[in-house]
Amino acid sequence: MPEQKFTINGESVTVDVESDVRLLWVIRDLLGITGPKYGCGINVCKACTSHINGKAFNPCSVKVGAISESDEITTIEGLADTWDGGDLHPMQQAWIDKDVSQCGFCQPGQIMAAVAKVRECQREGRDIDDDAIEELRNICRCGTYNRIREAIKAGAEEM
Ligand code: FES
Ligand code: FES
Repeated sequence: MPEQKFTINGESVTVDVESDVRLLWVIRDLLGITGPKYGCGINVCKACTSHINGKAFNPCSVKVGAISESDEITTIEGLADTWDGGDLHPMQQAWIDKDVSQCGFCQPGQIMAAVAKVRECQREGRDIDDDAIEELRNICRCGTYNRIREAIKAGAEEM
């Protein structure tokens, strides 16, 4: 079987898997990193949102063979390590402070999407306002959207 190499949460990994297997299954089932959730598998629900080279992406819709050795993937498990200081990324702390989670299933993807959106707005010199937050497409079946919006704004102030 072909070998696939990439970096995830700061560690270089090599997996023996066919190149057309989608990355979410490699991350969850072969590497045992279960923060990115499987909701739809077709890039709609955004529960699997993670980062590739610092930008949001959805590994359920990417074949592992499309990932190159130099690509750096970050899941919710590795998010805090991308931030200097503290055990949590400020967006994770904001999530706790605002008591956002209900069942929790969508929340890793929500946080990863939020961090990527804040970084995008910072690069573009835009405010994290309701319009920017509205661009996020992560579904929460528990309907925690009001608290998500509050937490994104609070987390962004610390980033
Ligand atoms: S599981 Fe990836 S977008 Fe739904
Ligand atoms: S907290 Fe339950 S789906 Fe979002």
